[in-house]
Amino acid sequence: MGHANPGGSGDTGGMSSVVVEPSGPLVGTVEVGGAKNSVLKLMAACLLAEGRHTLRNVPQITDVDIMAEMLEALGATVTREPGDVVVIDTPAADQLIAEAPYELVEKMRASIVVLGPLLARCGRAKVSMPGGDDFGSRPIDFHLLGLEAMGATFSTSHGFVEGEVGDSSGRLVGAHIVLDFPSHTTTDNLVMAAVLAKGTTVIDNAAREPEVQDLAALLNAMGANVCGAGTSRIEIDGVEELSATSHAVITDRVVAATYLTAVAMTGGELVLPDARVEHMDMFLRKLAAIGVELDHGPQGLRATASGALRAVDVATLPYPGFATDYKPFLVTALCVADGVSIVTENLFSGRFRYVDELRRMGADIRTEGHHVVVRGIERFSGAPVKAADIRAGAALVLAGLVADGPTVVGDAEHIDRGYADLPGTLAALGARIWRQ
Ligand code: EPU
Repeated sequence: MGHANPGGSGDTGGMSSVVVEPSGPLVGTVEVGGAKNSVLKLMAACLLAEGRHTLRNVPQITDVDIMAEMLEALGATVTREPGDVVVIDTPAADQLIAEAPYELVEKMRASIVVLGPLLARCGRAKVSMPGGDDFGSRPIDFHLLGLEAMGATFSTSHGFVEGEVGDSSGRLVGAHIVLDFPSHTTTDNLVMAAVLAKGTTVIDNAAREPEVQDLAALLNAMGANVCGAGTSRIEIDGVEELSATSHAVITDRVVAATYLTAVAMTGGELVLPDARVEHMDMFLRKLAAIGVELDHGPQGLRATASGALRAVDVATLPYPGFATDYKPFLVTALCVADGVSIVTENLFSGRFRYVDELRRMGADIRTEGHHVVVRGIERFSGAPVKAADIRAGAALVLAGLVADGPTVVGDAEHIDRGYADLPGTLAALGARIWRQ
């Protein structure tokens, strides 16, 4: 990706550990920035129209850099400009290279979202099959079934899935798709495929995440007809052509939740001027239940905490339920809450790996299938630990804030995939934290 403004707060210089010492109370204001799980799809959506697309409020995270590399491998030009702006120049369809390379898909599973736009625009696409990851097997069967219903045929060989549109016009055709599960990225992929299809597509049991609504808002601004995003039935009337536009990414609710949990644990006062409280209702209810005082006014969302927390039970569910991405933070807070909590994971079978690391820091957690039982302790015990993924890494940093002695979180480059500068932001709130 070209940089009109090299350097920036997201420049991590390849550091791989974060050191955290007991800290608190944390006090201050944090600008949360744009949502990773929205911007990655918005960038892929820019493949759907020739021209110069402008995305604003784009976070300086490495997943955005990986998606930029992907778009460049497909034939687009991506430039980062000052003020969190990314400009994407997309060529004519016959100049796109409809092949997503292994090296990039392997780095970031979300790359699969280029499949729908490439099929819609080029009539064919070859994408490396994403592998599993640290929270279990993550298949792409829903993506392929939905696209097949719209007239694509797929074959797999040598680690790639290759799709082709059967219709002689080279366009996908509208279909009625019922998802087995309201999968977030499948919904994004199918909506992007449907906007240029012939006729009407209806997606039932669609994901209702705010990031799906953000994608629909961008597509509609490009000239698409997407109705019902944010509900479980999305209807898309296909159009022949879209045009480039400018769009601001919605605020990242998971990053907001990270800073809110930090203050819940250390005590203090935090203001998030750009938080979208309507997107994180279930999380805020649980935060209030464990003892955080919340107030939403013209200044944004204000959280005040004493650091004394109460136990609560939680089960993850698709939006508007309690997001699986919030769970590592809440589990970490519950480790130092008063009482016993039961936390149930309903989305990703293996999303408990950070639990072993929290145990190394003295947490009293028992895993039973997809449940964990957490008995509150007084404080964590600082230790060297490893980040298995973005949210697990952030959770271990939070644990370090209320540990005895220093905690060294290794493999911290995982954290930079989803946070512009987690250590720097926490340090600005008063935490004793630095990269090593
Ligand atoms: N699933 C299938 N087949 C498919 C697709 C999904 O069986 O073809 C299953 C998954 O295995 C899982 C469930 O459906 O059990 C839900 O997965 P979903 O497709 O909704 O997840 P995703 O779209 O791949 C997004 C976020 C994740 C977030 C989940 C759940 C992006 C790029 N990723 O993943 O975010 O945890 O939704 O809300 O949008 C993160 O930010 O760190 C992250 C992992």
